[in-house]
Amino acid sequence: MSRKRFLAATVLCLAVLIISPACYAKTILKLGTSTQPTHIYNQAAEYFGKLVAERTSGDIEVQVFPAAQLGSERDMVEGLQLGSLEMTLTSTGPMGNFVPQVKLFNLPFLFKDRESCYRVLDGEIGTSIADRFTTVGIRSLGWFENGFRNITNSKRPINTPEDMAGLKIRVMEDDVFILTMKALGASPLPMAFGELYTALEQKTVDAQENPLAVIHSSRFFEVQKHLAMTGHFYSPAVLLISEITWKTLTPEQQQIITEAAAEARTYEREISMKADQELEAACAKEGMEVTHPDKAPFAAAVAGVYTTPSVVKAIGGGDAEAGQQ
Ligand code: PAF
Repeated sequence: MSRKRFLAATVLCLAVLIISPACYAKTILKLGTSTQPTHIYNQAAEYFGKLVAERTSGDIEVQVFPAAQLGSERDMVEGLQLGSLEMTLTSTGPMGNFVPQVKLFNLPFLFKDRESCYRVLDGEIGTSIADRFTTVGIRSLGWFENGFRNITNSKRPINTPEDMAGLKIRVMEDDVFILTMKALGASPLPMAFGELYTALEQKTVDAQENPLAVIHSSRFFEVQKHLAMTGHFYSPAVLLISEITWKTLTPEQQQIITEAAAEARTYEREISMKADQELEAACAKEGMEVTHPDKAPFAAAVAGVYTTPSVVKAIGGGDAEAGQQ
């Protein structure tokens, strides 16, 4: 082989080596959620992934796994702690088991509107609670939104707290939700979200409560006749990354992820608000009968949850067992 040809062949081999997948270590971040692919969490997760891919020139790929494919919200947070999963976007439902102070955000009728929620979550209180996640091996990339929760059921229209009497209602797995539903006279049953549609269909439970975006994307109108716009809990969500994963990223990649998460949060809050504006009518169109109860008697009925000793202890700085029933 001539010297020229030898050089050309060497350059070609080097080029192939540089771009070959064997030499190119791409980082994959699996991001799990519990909700259906069309739900706002997954729209926001895809948006976040797009920003990250663009800004890292494809070095980091976020793969979104919706519909509890990777387990329940609690399973996924445990996965982050173990390093078997990289990211999740979850409600605060399971988070009190990891950082008890999160239970503060689970209290009924805590916020009157979205602006107050954002002020608290993005301010000193929200930041100091989110900062505690690193002590249990997970890192918050910001408070996203699940939304104001409303009650659906298959039995009767809800107009007053008395209408809740004896309703078997699925709740998220935290004592604040259980205490709230008990105070309303219902029979709460904690259950992972992935089991809920079947439980409603088979009438293991009569009722559930969730924001409109969840009710509609999960097609609960197929198995629940009544929708009461109670807005009894504001349900924040949080984008989390495993601390193990975080430490493998370069400072530049961490910066890109932090900024992309902030942009995805703004986007998600916008689509969540839009969902609330549009989906009540959409649920009614699917055959749900919608009521708008006066919230004051509901708030009065659940006021005692705020002073329940286990809740006070958990929020005031107790350990993770403090708020368990
Ligand atoms: O009801 C729940 O468990 C949560 O609201 C959900 C639907 C999983 C979203 O975080």
